[in-house]
Amino acid sequence: METEYIHGYSTTEQKRLLGQSRILSEYIFRNIDLTNCQHLLEIGVGVGAQTILLLEKFPHLHITGVELSEVQLAQAKENLAMFPQFAKRYEIIQADAKKLDNLDTAGIDAVLFIWVLEHIPQPKEVLAEVRRVIPTNSLISITEVFNDSLFLYPPCPAVMNYWRNSIDFQYSIQGDPNVGARLGVLLSDTGYRDIEVTPCIIHLDKRSPHQRLTFLQYWKDLMYSHLDSMIQAGYTTFSEWEKVAAEMDILMENPEAVFYYNPMQATAKI
Ligand SMILES: C[S@@+](CC[C@H](N)C(=O)[O-])C[C@H]1O[C@@H](n2cnc3c(N)ncnc32)[C@H](O)[C@@H]1O
Repeated sequence: METEYIHGYSTTEQKRLLGQSRILSEYIFRNIDLTNCQHLLEIGVGVGAQTILLLEKFPHLHITGVELSEVQLAQAKENLAMFPQFAKRYEIIQADAKKLDNLDTAGIDAVLFIWVLEHIPQPKEVLAEVRRVIPTNSLISITEVFNDSLFLYPPCPAVMNYWRNSIDFQYSIQGDPNVGARLGVLLSDTGYRDIEVTPCIIHLDKRSPHQRLTFLQYWKDLMYSHLDSMIQAGYTTFSEWEKVAAEMDILMENPEAVFYYNPMQATAKI
C-alpha cells in the first residue's frame, strides 16, 4: 500500500525542500561530522537538497543516494546536474529503504537520514535493513522532527491549534511527527551501538532579529505545505489557515517574539 506523504510532491514543495535545507543547515550541520567518512549512503534524498550541501561541506565525500519516489528522484538529478563539479562524486538510485538487497554497499562507511523516518510507518524495518546490508562499524546519523517541542511567544492560539492538527493528521497517515524523541529506542531495539541522541535547539529571539524573521517566514511556509492535504482530510479549513497566516504575520512584526523548536539528532555505530 502506498503511504500518503504529508507534504506532497508538487513543484512548489520541491522548491521548498531546497530552501529549507539552506535555512536549517546552520543548525543541523553543527552536529553532523562526516570528516572521517569516505562513502555516504543518504536515505530519502528527496530533491537532492541535503546531497548538494553534503557535497559542498565534505569535499572528499562520495554519496550514494536512495529515494523511493520517481518524481523526487528526477528532480534530484536535475538539481544536482546544476553542479557539474560534483558529477563524479554521487549516484542517485530509486529504491525503497526497506529493501536494499540490490544496493552495492562495498566501501560505504556512513549512512544519513534527514527528515525521512517521520514519513515511514515502520521505521524499525528501515533501520534493521540498513544494519543488515551496511558494513559493521559504519556511522549512522539521523536528524528527525520532534513536533511537540514547538513554543511561540506571545501565544499564538490559531497557529498552535493548526500545528496540533497537523501532528494528529500525520499520525493518521501512519507517519510519526515526534519520531525524533524515539530515535534512541528505535536504534537500540534494532541492534545499533554507541548511540547518542541530542536535541538540536533552535531558539530565536530579539538577540538575532534577522534569523528570527527568516525562520518565522520559513515556518509559515512549512505549515502552508501541509494545508491542502489537511483540508482534504478534514483536519483544517481555509478560514482556519487565514487566522494562522495572520498570527504568523503579527509575530514576525513583534520585537518580543520568541521561537523555540528542537528536532532531535542521533548518531550510532552499525
Ligand atoms: C521530507 S523529504 C526529505 C528529503 C531530504 N532528506 C531533505 O532533507 O531535503 C522525505 C523523503 O523521503 C522519501 N522516502 C520516504 N519513504 C522512503 C523509503 N521507504 N525509501 C526511500 N525514500 C523514502 C520521500 O519520498 C521523500 O522524498
